[in-house]
Amino acid sequence: MLTPAFPDWSAALPAGTRRLVLRAPTFDDVPRIALYAGDAKVARMVVAVPHPYSQAHASAFVGDMIATNQSGSGLGMAVARVRESAALVGLVSFTLQEAGSATIGWWFGPPYWGRGFATEAVEAAIRLAFLNPAVDRLTAGAFAENPASLRVQEKLGFVRTGLSERTSLARSGMVAHVDTVLHRDAFMARRAGFVP
Ligand SMILES: CC(C)(COP(=O)(O)OP(=O)(O)OC[C@H]1O[C@@H](n2cnc3c(N)ncnc32)[C@H](O)[C@@H]1OP(=O)(O)O)[C@@H](O)C(=O)NCCC(=O)NCCS
Repeated sequence: MLTPAFPDWSAALPAGTRRLVLRAPTFDDVPRIALYAGDAKVARMVVAVPHPYSQAHASAFVGDMIATNQSGSGLGMAVARVRESAALVGLVSFTLQEAGSATIGWWFGPPYWGRGFATEAVEAAIRLAFLNPAVDRLTAGAFAENPASLRVQEKLGFVRTGLSERTSLARSGMVAHVDTVLHRDAFMARRAGFVP
C-alpha cells in the first residue's frame, strides 16, 4: 500500500464537469445505489456487486466509501447532474494499490447510459487520481463482453495489457476479463492534444 502523498483527495470534492458533479457520497444516496446496482444489467458487469443487491448492501458500501475517503487510501465519488446534484446517477472510485498504481472502477444507472456521462465523469476522476504525484498509472479493464466500458476506456486512453479471469459476485463464477492500464504521461499528453 502506498502512503498517500497527496494530503487529502476528498478535499478536492465536489469537482465539476460540464454537465456533472462528482461529490462525496452520503447515506442519502443509498436508495439510488440500491436501485441501480440492484439492476442485473449493472451487477453482471461489475466484479464486486452481488445480485440481488439490497439497501443494506448499499448502506455498507457507502460506509466503506466514506471510510476510504477519510483514510486517504482512495476516493469514492457519487456522480450527479449539476442541475440535480442530490440525485446520484452513477459512482466512480479509485483505490491505491502497489507502488505507483491505483485501480479505478465505475457504474452508471441504466436510465443515464448513452449520454457520454461515464466518459465525462471518469475523465474527471482520473484527473483527481493523478493529483497524487505518487500515482503514475491507473488500472481498469472490463469483462470481455462489456464493449461499452471498454469503449469508454479507449476514449480516455487506456490500453489493453492482457486477458484474465475475474470473479463476478453477481454470477457466482469466473468471467473473462480484459485488463487495461492508463499511464499518467499518456493521459496528460492526450489532454494536451499531443495524441490523436
Ligand atoms: C459501461 C457504462 C459505464 C457506460 O456508460 P455511458 O454513460 O453509457 O458511457 P458513455 O456514453 O460515456 O460512452 C459509451 C460508449 O460505448 C459505446 N457503446 C455502447 N454500447 C456499445 C456496444 N454494445 N458495443 C460497442 N460500443 C458500445 C457508445 O457508443 C459510446 O461510445 P462513443 O462515444 O464512441 O459513441 C454503463 O453502461 C454501465 O454502467 N454499465 C454497467 C456497469 C459497468 O459496465 N461498469 C463498468 C465496469 S468495467
